Amino acid sequence: MLFGRTTLSKFVIEHTRGQHSEMGALLIDVAAAVKTISAQVGKGALSGVSGALDVTNIQGEVQKKIDVLANEALLRHCEWGGQLAGMASEEMDTPYQIPEQFPRGRYLLIFDPLDGSSNSDVNVSVGTIFSIFSRFTAGDAEDADFLRPGTEQVAAGYAIYGPCTMLVLTVGTGTHGFTLDRESGNFILTHPDIRVPTETREFAINSSNERFWEPPVQRYVSECKAGKSGVRGADFNMRWIASMVAEVHRILMRGGIFMYPKDNKDPAKPGRLRLMYEANPMAMLIEQAGGAASTGRQRILDVAPEELHQRVPVILGSREEVERLVRYHQEYDTGADRPFVSPLFSERSLFRD
Ligand code: AHG
Ligand code: MN
Ligand code: MN
Repeated sequence: MLFGRTTLSKFVIEHTRGQHSEMGALLIDVAAAVKTISAQVGKGALSGVSGALDVTNIQGEVQKKIDVLANEALLRHCEWGGQLAGMASEEMDTPYQIPEQFPRGRYLLIFDPLDGSSNSDVNVSVGTIFSIFSRFTAGDAEDADFLRPGTEQVAAGYAIYGPCTMLVLTVGTGTHGFTLDRESGNFILTHPDIRVPTETREFAINSSNERFWEPPVQRYVSECKAGKSGVRGADFNMRWIASMVAEVHRILMRGGIFMYPKDNKDPAKPGRLRLMYEANPMAMLIEQAGGAASTGRQRILDVAPEELHQRVPVILGSREEVERLVRYHQEYDTGADRPFVSPLFSERSLFRD
């Protein structure tokens, strides 16, 4: 019995009144796109769109048919309504111009149409991540209009396509979760005002990259793994789903820390994840839920973007753990975590033979 429950439409109308009233209509279009993607992803192999295309995107990653379909769904559902000045996506090298026949608006929509898409062939949760900025003027957006720090986001969210489809959203007044009622086709507010527990005993990292991490991350993870007998004095659990959406969702539900830190695997890339459509929206959702999000050296939302597809180290989740890891970076950068070794007794000392 769902009468009397809050639908997504009711929620966004109530929460965007005033300065951002047009954004309500945009969010409802994003939700329509998400329902289309959810239906497509939910068909699995029956959709006939599994597998890779013979193309790579700007990231140098192989595009899957489902990545392209999800991208199309967002473009088609959101281009017509007159709220947007432009869109940008993981799957498009340059921003998308609103076609001439449609009116322009003052918002910019940036998205990762299908996050974790390598998981779609193995029936593991995937998602869509989006971020909305507002400009001061309407009209076509220039490429440079997109390069704004995450603090200026007016809304951010993700959809998770798991055993159920959920949309998790912030318009700057907390983080709220909606579950898709497949019978009525409505998103229903089921998780109002989500709070990330400040403490956690669960961490998520792709530990196959351990040899490439910086010392502060190696220190943090080895302390977690040492468990009760180590300096943390507590046993930790580890999880790695390889879908950022699924990891962030778990952290919003029960706490934890997620790390895709800086590593030296490929010196040209300062991290794996993309600032504008992965790190920024997730950082806003996590902060709005009382958690923290950092590169290790800077609050993610303060990073000034230089490129649309720029990558960034990501450490986010329960506040106390993120703050600990930020401290480990500071201690490493200042040398405070390196024990003093007397030059007289070092490898090259006069007193060694
Ligand atoms: P995408 O599918 O949009 O390219 O993003 C995948 C991302 C993210 O979801 C996940 O956390 C990470 O890539 C997984 O990386 P590894 O394969 O290195 O574990
Ligand atoms: Mn992604
Ligand atoms: Mn993607």
